[in-house]
Amino acid sequence: MVSSSSFSPAFMAAATAAAALVWASVLIGPCLAGDPFAFFDWNVEYATASPLGVPQQVITINKQFPGPVMNITTNWNVVVNVLNSLDESLLITWDGIQHRKNSWQDGVLGTNCPIPPGWNWTYQFQVKDQIGSFFYFPSLKFQRAAGGFGGITVNNRAVISVPFGKPDGDITLFIGDWYTRNHTDLRKTLDDGKGLGMPDGVLMNGKGPYRYNNTLVPAGIDYETINVQPGKTYRIRVHNVGVATSLNFRIQSHNLLLAETEGSYTWQQNYTNLDIHVGQSYSFLVTMDQNASTDYYIVASARFVNESLWTRVTGVAILHYSNSKGKASGPLPDPPNDFYDKSFSMNQAKSIRMNTSTGAARPNPQGSFRYGSINVTQFYLLRNMPPVVINGKRRTTLNGISYTSPGTPLRLADQFEEKGVYTLDFPTMPPTSGAPRIGSSVINGTYKGFMEIVFQNNDTIVQSYHMDGYAFFVVGMGFGEWTTASRGDYNKWDGVSRCTTQVFPGAWTAVLVSLDNVGIWNIRAENLDTWYLGQEVYVKVVNPESATKTELPPPDNLLYCGLLKDKQKAQTPHGTNSSSSASIVYVRDKLLILMLLFAVLAVIP
Ligand SMILES: *[C@@H]1O[C@H](CO)[C@@H](O)[C@H](O)[C@H]1NC(C)=O
Ligand SMILES: *[C@@H]1O[C@H](CO)[C@@H](O)[C@H](O)[C@H]1NC(C)=O
Ligand SMILES: *[C@@H]1O[C@H](CO)[C@@H](O)[C@H](O)[C@H]1NC(C)=O
Ligand SMILES: *[C@@H]1O[C@H](CO)[C@@H](O)[C@H](O)[C@H]1NC(C)=O
Ligand SMILES: *[C@@H]1O[C@H](CO)[C@@H](O)[C@H](O)[C@H]1NC(C)=O
Ligand SMILES: *[C@@H]1O[C@H](CO)[C@@H](O)[C@H](O)[C@H]1NC(C)=O
Ligand SMILES: *[C@@H]1O[C@H](CO)[C@@H](O)[C@H](O)[C@H]1NC(C)=O
Ligand SMILES: *[C@@H]1O[C@H](CO)[C@@H](O)[C@H](O)[C@H]1NC(C)=O
Ligand SMILES: *[C@@H]1O[C@H](CO)[C@@H](O)[C@H](O)[C@H]1NC(C)=O
Ligand SMILES: *[C@@H]1O[C@H](CO)[C@@H](O)[C@H](O)[C@H]1NC(C)=O
Ligand SMILES: *[C@@H]1O[C@H](CO)[C@@H](O)[C@H](O)[C@H]1NC(C)=O
Ligand SMILES: *[C@@H]1O[C@H](CO)[C@@H](O)[C@H](O)[C@H]1NC(C)=O
Repeated sequence: MVSSSSFSPAFMAAATAAAALVWASVLIGPCLAGDPFAFFDWNVEYATASPLGVPQQVITINKQFPGPVMNITTNWNVVVNVLNSLDESLLITWDGIQHRKNSWQDGVLGTNCPIPPGWNWTYQFQVKDQIGSFFYFPSLKFQRAAGGFGGITVNNRAVISVPFGKPDGDITLFIGDWYTRNHTDLRKTLDDGKGLGMPDGVLMNGKGPYRYNNTLVPAGIDYETINVQPGKTYRIRVHNVGVATSLNFRIQSHNLLLAETEGSYTWQQNYTNLDIHVGQSYSFLVTMDQNASTDYYIVASARFVNESLWTRVTGVAILHYSNSKGKASGPLPDPPNDFYDKSFSMNQAKSIRMNTSTGAARPNPQGSFRYGSINVTQFYLLRNMPPVVINGKRRTTLNGISYTSPGTPLRLADQFEEKGVYTLDFPTMPPTSGAPRIGSSVINGTYKGFMEIVFQNNDTIVQSYHMDGYAFFVVGMGFGEWTTASRGDYNKWDGVSRCTTQVFPGAWTAVLVSLDNVGIWNIRAENLDTWYLGQEVYVKVVNPESATKTELPPPDNLLYCGLLKDKQKAQTPHGTNSSSSASIVYVRDKLLILMLLFAVLAVIP
């Protein structure tokens, strides 16, 4: 394998200029039959940044914070060589990417051994039959609280139509609560049995708030500016990558036309603001239809908290028209005024429907999978409780079990027939008695079954739940305790299919999922503190008939650890030296290098 960094700087400059052309050659190259490949070379390392005016350690990818947006298309093969330049182990997980038949690439501890510090590991997966807006992030050790996240934009293939006109631009916006304490310090706070407390702010694209109020925002903070042209329509993809805070998103004087969420096209409706919970992603179409008398505020403010105490937990960026006549000033646009009442937010969530008539990754309409008429074959009610103390440690539980990683990835243990690593006995219902416990208990999913999962939130804050390997249909939400009668209120027709759903406190959310993807898949709280303290479970889905045919074999570069650590060969330090290069495309085939040369020669007069 030859990395682009092994070329001379002069050659690289020319090659970068010709990158688009090279890319075209790769796409049409006769040497690559089938679906195209996209190559990424990432160096994950620490840097110092001061997003809220206080210098702190953050995690960058190729020196970027947030990391680069991975701009890819349905069915592409993605190859990401990740160099871990941190001082602790690393895994990158690809939230919402389904890795069909290939949980080996999921990047969580149940499927992968961590990449040791100083080592690199190459992920390879196909983005099969997916479109939409997702993000990746480091899944271990609370690292997401320090950065290391970035967008995954999966474009539709040209032959598939999209239920809206081509936007004039595509903008990715990461919003999230932020602490000025570093991630190791936050981890220690949790290990010491304490809560994290109120965040220090909300970042937008890694930057602090615009100084909309001189008392609240100190001078000298760098803020995000989104530059737009009047009259144009932009697709704005917003991801809540934060630790634990639900955020209300709004753009002053502009409507947000909701178009897509986590891979499903929605019924297009205007919102003046939308609640975006931790781990969720939305695409809005925003038309620049104002007169630009000033710039406009883009706001993400903490939800369901006492605003007068949480004023600093507000992200503010600037929407700047090219013909703008001045700076934004005055108060921020109002958030919903419903501190005591979460029904506005729940009703808003229920108003998000799937557009059943449009195709998504495939031409057949999204609604052609009639989930509402499929019989449920497995039922799980997963109850989240407020943190409890188990063996002297503060932990979180689902159905009375606080998950602990057994040290050997579950999928790896299965592959090498190591018994006793986990138990396949996760309870279908919350226990009615017995003390909460720590364990590595897994849900036994039936291949091709149809599972109903009800998340019941007994805590006092909103939780988001995410499932890897799948999208689930969000069919219902309600306050109080779920009962079988709650099924009468399910949306059996146009519930949206996504990978992360919110569950309001004292309420339930029901999802339906078709277990057609073999592997071992993580279900977790996306709220980082809740997850860190044990709120996750895995679902094992095996095809009893032909395990070898339906699942991809482990990759050649499989890492070993835990009970299998003796199989691991040492990795010689290789230093890709790609850290300083912004190049994301590297070529690994002599023929392609020749094509690259010709491409460069063709553009240099
Ligand atoms: C992403 O790639 C598509 C082509 O695959 C291109 O049309 C689009 O401009 C790219 N988007 C961004 C934001 O670079
Ligand atoms: C590490 O990167 C090198 C290229 O720099 C590559 O040849 C090797 O396969 C990578 N290692 C793994 C385990 O992916
Ligand atoms: C993280 O924060 C702790 C406590 O403030 C500090 O001791 C430590 O040096 C910090 N680590 C880095 C790498 O900044
Ligand atoms: C700035 O915020 C402070 C504290 O919330 C508030 O008292 C003050 O009225 C605000 N100033 C302006 C100009 O809005
Ligand atoms: C959404 O709002 C825009 C104005 O910002 C308007 O032009 C458009 O018709 C609205 N769309 C729908 C579906 O209501
Ligand atoms: C622009 O719109 C604002 C708000 O609608 C209005 O107050 C203002 O007078 C308009 N300015 C111009 C120059 O039309
Ligand atoms: C919010 O906090 C302030 C200051 O502590 C308090 O006076 C106010 O009553 C609180 N508001 C609500 C709605 O609880
Ligand atoms: C639904 O999708 C169709 C394309 O099949 C599109 O024409 C229509 O505008 C969409 N409707 C809404 C409300 O988003
Ligand atoms: C679903 O279950 C009902 C009642 O048990 C049964 O009559 C029906 O045939 C089943 N439908 C399918 C598609 O299996
Ligand atoms: C798991 O479920 C399968 C059916 O899907 C069943 O055959 C198997 O016995 C179950 N395993 C355990 C440990 O319950
Ligand atoms: C939690 O469960 C207890 C016991 O069922 C109930 O009394 C309480 O109201 C619940 N709290 C929430 C926030 O759901
Ligand atoms: C990386 O590049 C630098 C400068 O070109 C060189 O001195 C160093 O040896 C390289 N490191 C490795 C591990 O190849």
